[in-house]
Amino acid sequence: MKNRHFPSALLLVLATVLLSIHRSEQLHSSSYSQTLLRIKQLLNFPPILSSWNHNIDFCSTDSTSSLTVICYEGTITQLNIVGETRAHILPRNFSIDSFVSSLVRLPSLKVLTLVSLGIWGPLPSKIAQLSSLEIVNVSSNFLYGAIPQELSLLSHLQTIILDDNMFSGHLPEWMDSFSALTVLSLKNNLFNGSVPDSLSNLENMRILSLSHNHFLGSVPDLSRLTNLQVLELDDNGFGPQFPRLGNKLVTLVLRNNKFRSSIPDKVSSYYQLERLDISENTFVGPFQLELLSLPSITYLNISGNKLTGMLFENNSCNPGLEAVDLSSNRLTGSLPKCLMTNSNDRTVLYAGNCLEETNQNQNALPFCHTEAIAVGIVPEVKKHRRVSKVVLSLGIVCGTMGGVALVALLFFTVRRGNVKSKMKKNPPTKLISENAASGYSSKLLSDARYISQTMKFGTVGLPPYRAFTLEEIVAATNNFDTASFMGEGSQGKMYRGQLKDGSLVAIRSVKRTKSHSTQDFMHYTELISKYRHRHLVSVLGHCFERYLDDSSASSVFIVSEYVPNGTLRSWISDRHYRKSLTWTQRIEAAIGVAKGIQFLHTGIVPGVYANNLKITDVLLDQNFVAKISSYTLPLLSNKGKAGQGNPSSGFRSPSLKKSVKCEDKSDIYDFGVILLELILGRTVKSRNVDTLRDLLQTSIAADGEARRSIIDPAVHKACLDQSLKTMMEISVRCLVKEPAERPSAEDVLWNLQFAAQVQDAWIGDSQSSDDGSPISPLASQRMTFH
Ligand SMILES: *[C@@H]1O[C@H](CO)[C@@H](O)[C@H](O)[C@H]1NC(C)=O
Ligand SMILES: *[C@@H]1O[C@H](CO)[C@@H](O)[C@H](O)[C@H]1NC(C)=O
Ligand SMILES: *[C@@H]1O[C@H](CO)[C@@H](O)[C@H](O)[C@H]1NC(C)=O
Ligand SMILES: *[C@@H]1O[C@H](CO)[C@@H](O)[C@H](O)[C@H]1NC(C)=O
Ligand SMILES: *[C@@H]1O[C@H](CO)[C@@H](O)[C@H](O)[C@H]1NC(C)=O
Repeated sequence: MKNRHFPSALLLVLATVLLSIHRSEQLHSSSYSQTLLRIKQLLNFPPILSSWNHNIDFCSTDSTSSLTVICYEGTITQLNIVGETRAHILPRNFSIDSFVSSLVRLPSLKVLTLVSLGIWGPLPSKIAQLSSLEIVNVSSNFLYGAIPQELSLLSHLQTIILDDNMFSGHLPEWMDSFSALTVLSLKNNLFNGSVPDSLSNLENMRILSLSHNHFLGSVPDLSRLTNLQVLELDDNGFGPQFPRLGNKLVTLVLRNNKFRSSIPDKVSSYYQLERLDISENTFVGPFQLELLSLPSITYLNISGNKLTGMLFENNSCNPGLEAVDLSSNRLTGSLPKCLMTNSNDRTVLYAGNCLEETNQNQNALPFCHTEAIAVGIVPEVKKHRRVSKVVLSLGIVCGTMGGVALVALLFFTVRRGNVKSKMKKNPPTKLISENAASGYSSKLLSDARYISQTMKFGTVGLPPYRAFTLEEIVAATNNFDTASFMGEGSQGKMYRGQLKDGSLVAIRSVKRTKSHSTQDFMHYTELISKYRHRHLVSVLGHCFERYLDDSSASSVFIVSEYVPNGTLRSWISDRHYRKSLTWTQRIEAAIGVAKGIQFLHTGIVPGVYANNLKITDVLLDQNFVAKISSYTLPLLSNKGKAGQGNPSSGFRSPSLKKSVKCEDKSDIYDFGVILLELILGRTVKSRNVDTLRDLLQTSIAADGEARRSIIDPAVHKACLDQSLKTMMEISVRCLVKEPAERPSAEDVLWNLQFAAQVQDAWIGDSQSSDDGSPISPLASQRMTFH
């Protein structure tokens, strides 16, 4: 019995075990395919992942250079996703936390490449759960913040590549916990502070690239890193001593730092050295001629230093030299014959020395012999404006401003018939009885159906809407004195005035004609009282003038803000009397305009689209807050009906929404044009927009230098490349031909705030907020990304 039962029991156990293995494997594979599909979704369905779907077997897909999934024994060990170069930042609803939470469900990952996917946010510490990770490359995203401490748990890491992100803070002391590290590449980030000495313990290091950050101070002693082949430190503040290095280097780039020492003799023993670039420092002392004949050297650039020494015609050079740049040093003697080849495949530059008989510009000999020239500190010559001139310019500005505000307000009357007709289709506005007028603002503000959240926040800073008394109007305009008269539009006269509290206002008087009832008038004031926002030239209130006999209204005075500080253009491209806005202020202004547009589209019901916005319609107040002065206001129609909103339903009908959608994007286009002008700093004519957009497009793809070369020289130095690029990208996207492809106001705003945030971080970082602006920088508004 026993014997007969045993095998069957064993079989049963085996079967159960097999079954459960099979099931767990199935479970497993379906869970990682779920994870991958979730990743695809979290990355907002990038084109590169279009082939991923529920039906594919991820482990047997073909690898390409941009998409690789490699499995080992049923788990994913390698995941490479490379998006389109210069990918846009993922939308606001992207969550790096959710993303990394999904990622760590692939715990066997050894190789992870997530490049150019628009990923943004601080690197979450739970990335450390990927404990098998050996190679990670997350270049060209928008990651920011410090390297999380928990990363130090990833002791198998061999390659860390964080290039082209916005990581900041110090490089942590614990970097040497990555004992297997061979590649550390942090190019183009915002790291600062000095580099920890612990790096000198990373003996396996082959490539160390810290280019283009804000590092400073001395380079740790790297002479123990006998495997180090590539050291790139360019565009930082390292110095003053030449770094101590092993002699296996192949590439050494120290360009544009603060080195001030001599070049140690040891460099002439770097027998593998192919590329040496020490340009744009203040290296002094003799230039070792042996460097020209190093056996492997192909590129040698010592330009922009103070190196001395005499060259001889009989000096020798490595025949493999492709480029030699000796310019702007203190070299004397004559150019070696070996450098004088006329071949096209070798560049030899040596201007700005004191060499004999050459084709390239040289200095007189004493220049190179004044050895003692200290690091020159050129006194900064600041231009002082005469006070009288400033006063004069202000006078003129106010003069023109009056005109602009007038034009702006006249728009109230001449804008767009189509809005009027669109509004007329909607049910009539809810009546507000006249004697409620003084309680207007609280009534309006409490009525959620009238006023969206945007508006509630947007009116912060504006005095509450109110009814003015006739006495106030009379006093403000000095009894309608001709000196206050600004002009006359189709619907009445315009006056400039000053209220008792000192604030400047514009007052328009609209006469009631026979075709209007007093009630129309009230509808009208009710309607325009909603056009109030921090970034609109807003209506402050109204005042009815009444007939004495029947006390019906004879006219209404509409009191609006008077914005005294000039048009946005006058601070950008048309600045005869002013200095121009800083880059930060430009972004702030753009954010203001975008918020104004967002309000017009979504802050009032019905939304106001197709406002035909121009940079000259954007005014700046004393605090450089941008305000849109010209937008489509409802008209007081002559047929006896004022333009009307739709307060009874909080939503627009779908058909209206649809038809509105494209109009929506015409404001976005106009906004793109304004951005163009903010970036380029010159007047943009509509016929040039396409050309300029293409120019921007090309320069987005170019390198930082080229990109900078096209922008307003006034902000050239003081804008961070990432910030500039983001502004350019959003401008280009606003200007695409197909309206549907233009971004939403939300998207625009998000990108602008992003540009501001990066710029802000950078300014804080480099402590160089003083870029010669006449205006103290606006209180920097740090935004949070969540
Ligand atoms: C983010 O919003 C877009 C639409 O704007 C939507 O298609 C996408 O699924 C959202 N993503 C997430 C992760 O919620
Ligand atoms: C990171 O990955 C991208 C895409 O594969 C590649 O182009 C880039 O060279 C990698 N970075 C480094 C430093 O190898
Ligand atoms: C480095 O940058 C951080 C912010 O990113 C800042 O708080 C810190 O003061 C900076 N340190 C130095 C030495 O500049
Ligand atoms: C040498 O370096 C300078 C400054 O970094 C650069 O402008 C120049 O083009 C370089 N020369 C060559 C031949 O690459
Ligand atoms: C090169 O020429 C100089 C004088 O013209 C001479 O002193 C020197 O010895 C020569 N060097 C070699 C290596 O021939």
